[in-house]
Amino acid sequence: MRIDVLTLFPGMFEGPLSHSILARAREAGLLVVETHDLRQYAAGKHRVTDEPPFGGGGGMVMKPEPIFAGVESITAAHGPGRVILLSPSGARLSFEVAERLSKSDHLLLVCGRYEGVDQRVADHLADEEISIGDYVLSGGELPAMVLIDAVARFLPGVLGDPEAPRNDSFSAGVLEAPHYTRPRDFRGWTVPEVLLSGDHGAVEAWRKAEGERRTTRIRPDLLKENLPKKKLTDG
Ligand SMILES: C[S@@+](CC[C@H](N)C(=O)[O-])C[C@H]1O[C@@H](n2cnc3c(N)ncnc32)[C@H](O)[C@@H]1O
Repeated sequence: MRIDVLTLFPGMFEGPLSHSILARAREAGLLVVETHDLRQYAAGKHRVTDEPPFGGGGGMVMKPEPIFAGVESITAAHGPGRVILLSPSGARLSFEVAERLSKSDHLLLVCGRYEGVDQRVADHLADEEISIGDYVLSGGELPAMVLIDAVARFLPGVLGDPEAPRNDSFSAGVLEAPHYTRPRDFRGWTVPEVLLSGDHGAVEAWRKAEGERRTTRIRPDLLKENLPKKKLTDG
């Protein structure tokens, strides 16, 4: 998969992309991520990328021309891709959205800053707007990194165990069961006996029940959301 990122702050991506799973995915050629400095697509000596809002009000708004020029230049060089504008007004990023996006060959992520991005980008350039949650960050860079990480986990070969995403929280509409490792007894807090039993069936049943119990306690909304889906699959 190829992901191009249009941003005023390409340097912000260096750390997250050069560690752990994302670094290995890139080294293995499973994921190509290229950041593009939005300023290079801005016209004039001062390469202005933002202007005050029409209608007044505080803050600055990102101009459409450099963003359109950047996306068009990336598309000309690397072929068309799905254009995603990171925005608090977008649809919420979820397990399902990340899995769907992982099936694209090419994503182009547009990172906003300031008060946001001229609406014509959302209306006439972006294929979709995505939010990473109901809070406002200072820019689209951290949301883009979150999206890249969430999507990359679904790419074949990125995780050692290809079944791993299927066992993660949210995959079956519930949170996953708790994990334990050595020591068996830490300060008197012991590991559930069933995990030491060697009985794979019992472990599986315990994990399923624990996942459902935690979901009921911590995220009952997930169970409600998944009720219609479950009914459909149940026929
Ligand atoms: C300070 S925010 C703009 C917030 C905007 N004035 C509003 O109230 O919706 C600047 C940029 O950060 C990014 N951003 C902030 N919060 C986000 C979120 N929850 N999800 C995705 N992108 C976000 C977007 O690209 C946005 O254009």
